[in-house]
Amino acid sequence: MARQLHARRIEGIDKNIWVDFTQLAADYKVVNLGQGFPDFSPPSYIQEALCKAVNGGCSMHQYTHAFGHPPLVSILAKFFGRVVGHEIDAFEDILVTVGAYQALFCTFQALVDEEDEVTVILFYCVHVINLEKVEGGKALTSADWVLSSEELASKFNPRTKAIVINTPNNPLGKVYKREELQVIADLCIKHDVVCISDEVYEWLTYDGAKHVKIASLPGMWERTVTIGSGGKSFSATGWKVGWAIGAGPIVKHLKTVHQNSVYHCATAAQEAVAQGFQREYELFGTPESYFLQLPEMLNQKRKKLATCLESVGLQPILPEGGYFMISDISSFKVDLNDPSTQDEPYDYRFVKWLIKEKGLATIPVSAFYSPEHRKDFQNYIRFCFVKEDSTLNAAEDILRKWSD
Ligand SMILES: Cc1ncc(COP(=O)(O)O)c(C=O)c1O
Repeated sequence: MARQLHARRIEGIDKNIWVDFTQLAADYKVVNLGQGFPDFSPPSYIQEALCKAVNGGCSMHQYTHAFGHPPLVSILAKFFGRVVGHEIDAFEDILVTVGAYQALFCTFQALVDEEDEVTVILFYCVHVINLEKVEGGKALTSADWVLSSEELASKFNPRTKAIVINTPNNPLGKVYKREELQVIADLCIKHDVVCISDEVYEWLTYDGAKHVKIASLPGMWERTVTIGSGGKSFSATGWKVGWAIGAGPIVKHLKTVHQNSVYHCATAAQEAVAQGFQREYELFGTPESYFLQLPEMLNQKRKKLATCLESVGLQPILPEGGYFMISDISSFKVDLNDPSTQDEPYDYRFVKWLIKEKGLATIPVSAFYSPEHRKDFQNYIRFCFVKEDSTLNAAEDILRKWSD
């Protein structure tokens, strides 16, 4: 066609790090500590729940309620009502989505206009707001990055419509403390701003770090959209069942986007996630709960990976939560002589080299930033540790051979 085919709104977003680096990892058949998905199966009870749902007759294969399968929204309301300390209406306050990503998409589409500003908190310095390394020395854990309340306050203005937070955070692993969340909450209330809180790693905290839901702070329920993921909760990322939970007057706008785009997500997968939450509701806080077992298992893997990275000189930043670990590559000089990547940020080049030359896939951290800021954040790469010990061992072998 002679005329411009694509819509202007897709300009600049045609490249996608997850698509590109996942493809590269597949092309080179690598040990993959890149993309954030478990390479082990979900717990057997939830696999059985999915089989049961699939064999559960006609209704499991047909449309269910557009905004969430009734058994799922009912148990999510009961479960999270208890966690947040606020009554949740299953049919008004919840939207079930195709993974947490679609919940984020619906939220932005529904609430943010072109002229609005949205403040995003990322780790280290970003174009919008800093998490600063505490004074002195090298940062060794994600807790060494703190939120500057002055800087955050300076970003709020009459155009600020929303703030996005992610706790436990990807890629840093920071778990926001109650006091930090209170600073954010106070600003949201003062400036009448919506808080979009991505909490997909909410069960994964280590060394006593405690996940706090910002929606549970006084005055925040009515202005917070909390986003969660069945895929992350039950190690079943391929099911793509997520949700947005918040006050009905906010969530109804997200429903408008959902009903006019996706409309609905797979009934059987929703049914299985409902069964999983029913079980977790009954076992919550007991050793049988998967939401306790998974972080316990991951904590071993986290320590294993940190020890390995440290021993080969790839200084890890120990995460307080989530299943990623970033590593400082600034002192690890490699002669990157691939001319095809010479205009890219150092971490992109480093990660491509690591894939092609050493057979190990990771993710460049500057990918989390907009193109004009990428060069400023090119000294970190991200490792994912929600992997079988055999995968972590294989990665360790590669790193040790290389460092020797
Ligand atoms: C912070 C964060 N939010 C959302 C998602 C997407 O979750 P889902 O697979 O449920 O769409 C991810 C996936 O890695 C994530 O890291």
